[in-house]
Amino acid sequence: MSQLIIIGAGPGGYKTALHAAQHGLQVTIFEQEHVGGTCLNVGCIPTKTFVHSASFEEAIERQPQVVEQLRSGIETLLSHPNITLVRERASFVDAHTVETPDGQRYSADNIIIATGSSTKNIPVKGLDAPCVVDSTGLLALKELPRRLCIIGAGVIGMEFASVFRRFGSEVTVVEFLKECLPAIDGDIAKRLRKVMEKQGITFNMQCAVKRIENGTVVFTNKKGQDESVEADVVLMATGRKPRTEGLNLEAIGITLERNGAIPVDEHYEVKKIRNEENKKGDAPAPSNSLNFTFSNSPHLYAIGDVNGRQMLAHAAEYQGHHVVNRILGIEDHIRFDVMPAAIFTTPEAACVGPSEDQLKEQGTPYECHKSFYRANGKALAMNETEGMVKLCTEPGEGRILSAHIFGAHAADLVQEVTAYITLGATLRQLRETVHIHPTLSEVLIEVN
Ligand code: NAI
Repeated sequence: MSQLIIIGAGPGGYKTALHAAQHGLQVTIFEQEHVGGTCLNVGCIPTKTFVHSASFEEAIERQPQVVEQLRSGIETLLSHPNITLVRERASFVDAHTVETPDGQRYSADNIIIATGSSTKNIPVKGLDAPCVVDSTGLLALKELPRRLCIIGAGVIGMEFASVFRRFGSEVTVVEFLKECLPAIDGDIAKRLRKVMEKQGITFNMQCAVKRIENGTVVFTNKKGQDESVEADVVLMATGRKPRTEGLNLEAIGITLERNGAIPVDEHYEVKKIRNEENKKGDAPAPSNSLNFTFSNSPHLYAIGDVNGRQMLAHAAEYQGHHVVNRILGIEDHIRFDVMPAAIFTTPEAACVGPSEDQLKEQGTPYECHKSFYRANGKALAMNETEGMVKLCTEPGEGRILSAHIFGAHAADLVQEVTAYITLGATLRQLRETVHIHPTLSEVLIEVN
């Protein structure tokens, strides 16, 4: 019996295993595919290799080398004496026991589910055509598509639109909503889209895809008329869904949320476990049933995409860190409400905290401060003058609430503001912090 079982060795699972092992816990971690999960094998890392390659040919040559190098690094880390890596699929037998397909059973005091997410498709005809791919399929292409149609202008859609346009594909994006990147401030998202339009990407906003046939994507435009786009490859980028298939969660009475996520509390403990003594009959009980009671399970946790909270590799990693700290009785002060995110388009976009639109919706009083890259010496020298910073603060010299930025190295600038927000600093304190000249970060102190 080990002290901790982790199901899934993505960035959530493997980093959590290491943290636990370094603090003396005996860990067994299960992985049915490659270590590193979506992020390393078919997500963040291959995509960033594409972003930093000069051509499609260079990208497909470098991608497997980069992935392999990182994968073997993780395998070395997981050879820690306190960690056992089991390369099998695990499914639940009971709340302390999992089983692999060969019938081998493993038990632990605590179990963390870190099984990630998979592509969520929309119900349209023609998705089974060979030209239709998800992000994994797009990264596996051997030839650059002449015409690429991307359905969905979220994070995945925008990153691939940017990189494939730079490689020379004709890129058309079809998006259901009025603006791209739903999580980013609307003003920033619109400006980024306009820059990408200037780069030659065609955006069809407020358009609903009806069907895909023989490489033609048919959609209804905002005036209600049918339009179509011809493509050699169609990328589905309409979101991801939590991955729970095959875990046999029924065995432990977990009721999934409507979006398929495992429900968790603020410490990532699994909620709504049907109590054993009330486990009668086969049908899942509704949460308000009088015959069943539901409670948290103090030894069962779900971290990362599978809990549907914040589908980001770093969110999974920090959630796992927090869970291990709880198991060990270590207090931490991780601010899960201050979660930065970046989109690696050219130029980048990044954010931390609520957008101006969200603050308005919530009725939260705020002041908005802006500055532009074109007035920054380093940005001019770098020929990176497209960009804008938007900082929202509490009124009257109050604390900084959020930063939404597009422009070169936006992720690094947002990271700086994340530190200020985490520590409860004001804009005045940010301005009074000496910034190196000439740097892009001076854009932050130039806001007015
Ligand atoms: P997303 O939720 O960001 O965007 C999906 C987009 O598809 C939305 O704009 C939505 O309106 C649109 N859409 C949905 N149905 C549609 C339809 N029928 N026709 C046209 N458009 C439609 O999801 P995405 O981009 O697939 O990313 C999945 C997850 O992966 C996200 O949670 C994201 O945060 C994460 N991710 C993060 C990255 C990063 O941090 N840099 C990189 C890649 C993914």
